[in-house]
Amino acid sequence: MGQWKQELEKAATILSRATRVTVSTGAGISAESSIPTFRDPGGLWDQINPMEAGTAKGLLRAFQTKSRIIVPILMTMLDRFEKAEPNAGHKALFDLEKMGIVRTVITQNVDNLHKEAGTTDLIEVHGNLFKMVCLSCGWEREVDRKPYIEMIRNRLSMIDVYDLDALLSLAVICDQCRSVMRPDVVMFGEAVKSMPRAFRVSAESDVMLVLGTSGVVFPAASFPVEAKKAGAGVIVINPTENGFRHCSDIYIPMKAGDALPAIVGKITGCSG
Ligand code: OAD
Repeated sequence: MGQWKQELEKAATILSRATRVTVSTGAGISAESSIPTFRDPGGLWDQINPMEAGTAKGLLRAFQTKSRIIVPILMTMLDRFEKAEPNAGHKALFDLEKMGIVRTVITQNVDNLHKEAGTTDLIEVHGNLFKMVCLSCGWEREVDRKPYIEMIRNRLSMIDVYDLDALLSLAVICDQCRSVMRPDVVMFGEAVKSMPRAFRVSAESDVMLVLGTSGVVFPAASFPVEAKKAGAGVIVINPTENGFRHCSDIYIPMKAGDALPAIVGKITGCSG
C-alpha cells in the first residue's frame, strides 16, 4: 500500500473537496466478497461461453443439453452468492456517502451487495438477481438473497431431467397473476437499464470513481468518458490493466477493498 501512498493521498484530497462524486463499479468490487469476476483468469467467462449461456434462450438450451457442465457451475455460483457479504470496498463507499462525498453509485453488478452495504442512491444498469419480474404481467418484487438461493439450490438438486418443466420449477410465482417470474437481470441482447439517468449523473459529476471494471462492456464503459468530457476528474482503482487508463487523472493499481478504506482513513485523518 505504501507504494501508492501519493496516489491515495491525491485521491483523498480530490474526493474531500468534491461534492458530486459518482462511482462506477464492476465485478472487481465484489471479487473480495468471493464472487468471481467475468474476465479475470478463472472468471465466469472462462467456465461458460457468454455467447452460449449469456442469453435467456441460450441458457435454456445449455440447461437442457449441457446440464452436466452448467449445473455444477450454477451450484458453485449459488454457493458464492449465498456466502457473499459486502466487503471493505462496498462499506467504504457507504462511508463516503455518509460523509456527503459520494452521491450516486452506478453498478454493473447484480449481486445486491452495494444495497446491503447501505448505498442509498444506486443505479443497477444490469439489473439485480434478487429482484423478480413477472414474465406475464410485469409485477415486480424483491426476494431475500439467502433464503432465495437456498430454495433454488434445493429445487435444483431434486431435478432428474433438465427440461423446460424442470427450469420452470425453479421460478418464483407471481403473487398477482400466478405466472412465472424471472430475475430482473440484463442478459446479452437485452436493454440496459436506467441509461438516461446514468448518463445524466455521470455528466453532472465533479469526480468519477471507477472501480473494478474492465471497461469492455458498453454502454457502461462510457460513463467515465462522459464524466471526463463534462470536466470531471477520474480516479481509477483496479489492480490490473483496464480500459480506463487513458481517461484517468489518478490510477491506483490496488484492490478496491484495500484502497477505498485507506482513502476514507486519509480523509477522516485516521490514517497516515
Ligand atoms: P470484468 O470481469 O470484465 O472485469 C473485472 C475487473 O475488476 C478487471 O478489470 C479486474 O482487474 C478488476 N478487479 C479484480 N479484482 C479487483 C479488486 N479486488 N478490486 C478492484 N478491481 C478488481 O467485469 P465487469 O467490467 O464488471 O454483463 O464486466 C462488465 C459486464 O461484463 C458484466 O456486468 C457482465 C459481463 O458480461 C452482463 O452480464 C450483462
